[in-house]
Amino acid sequence: MSSSNNKIPVAVLAATGTVGQRFVSLLADHPWFEVVAVTASERSAGQRYADAVSWVVPGEIPTSVADLVVRPTDSDPGDASLVFSALPGDVAREVEPALAAGGYAVCSNASALRMEPDVPLLVPEINPDHIHLIKAQREKRGWSGSIITAPNCAVTGFIFPMKALHAAFGIEKVHVVTMQAISGAGYPGVPSFDILDNVIPFIGGEEDKLESEPRKLLGTMVDGGIEPADMVVSPQVHRVPVMDGHVAALSIKLARKVSIDDVNRALEQFAAPEGVADLPGTPERPLILRKESNRPQPRRDRDAGNGMSISVGRVQPCTVFDVKLVSLVHNTLRGAAGGAIQNAEWLVASGYLGEKPFER
Ligand SMILES: NC(=O)c1ccc[n+]([C@@H]2O[C@H](COP(=O)([O-])OP(=O)(O)OC[C@H]3O[C@@H](n4cnc5c(N)ncnc54)[C@H](OP(=O)(O)O)[C@@H]3O)[C@@H](O)[C@H]2O)c1
Repeated sequence: MSSSNNKIPVAVLAATGTVGQRFVSLLADHPWFEVVAVTASERSAGQRYADAVSWVVPGEIPTSVADLVVRPTDSDPGDASLVFSALPGDVAREVEPALAAGGYAVCSNASALRMEPDVPLLVPEINPDHIHLIKAQREKRGWSGSIITAPNCAVTGFIFPMKALHAAFGIEKVHVVTMQAISGAGYPGVPSFDILDNVIPFIGGEEDKLESEPRKLLGTMVDGGIEPADMVVSPQVHRVPVMDGHVAALSIKLARKVSIDDVNRALEQFAAPEGVADLPGTPERPLILRKESNRPQPRRDRDAGNGMSISVGRVQPCTVFDVKLVSLVHNTLRGAAGGAIQNAEWLVASGYLGEKPFER
């Protein structure tokens, strides 16, 4: 069923959190989707959305959502056919498969199911063909709905320069050091006593994700599954006192020797594949190469392309590997809600919306 204005009715799970609020904000004027239901924990269920939420993202709460009554997350998400999930990982592991089995198309930011062999880990500019894993997923699990996932927010940033260089020259090894914003820890997040005037060289579970997710994202579809890219990634992660915007400094060993001009050209030529470029959420320039010696910076560059462009700079020779560079991603826009919305657009454009809209 479509909504009164012919938009696809969608629900936002965990709509009161940092990422959930970004979903609500971005979906307010979306040309294809309309929010008809919001869920959260028992703490918020039963309240008006505007009363339940501590609104921390820019702008006002959209009037179309402010008066919705927050549902408990284990209930049916109403007339929605597509569901955006900003659930904590442990809750997502239970709730998302149940929804997919019930015919809903689930587009998730949670980490729980990202590495399941039949679940697409998707960035439309990077691996659009991985959407077809949904066929194997439905066959194996007997679902009429589906689950697709967006990567870890830090990975979403540095996968863009990795993709450009892997496609052009091949990548063998990457050492990556991240400086991650506090909004990446959710709300209220890291206590101010711990993060002000400080850098914390630990984020629970993060380094495992940075090691494994790039290999799946850059992997190849073979016989209906993903063969991970043959490379190693060694990450070190840090929480830093920045509000939004994850910075990653990479040293990369390429499969062959090339000049820095070649590297710059490969980065400059990065473009969204056919079809993906036309999605509402795809920025005009998915990867922006900055030539200034002091960019990218979170405060100056995170909002490029409405927060959906990845900024890359400091491209230089590396004396340990071959090339060094720095990338920046807006972690709650491209790295979370914006990325999952673009994934949903690609799912719809690829014809994989579940059966739910036709059943209801
Ligand atoms: N922040 C980022 O940059 C980022 C980026 C990529 C992915 N992610 C992922 O996105 C998800 C949400 O992160 P966040 O930063 O938005 O966290 P957050 O600000 O802490 O928000 C947590 C949300 O989960 C809800 N929730 C908590 N327990 C629940 C339960 N048992 N059942 C249903 N809902 C429950 C909360 O509802 P109440 O308000 O009712 O408690 C709230 O809406 C996580 O899986 C995270 O790993 C985050």
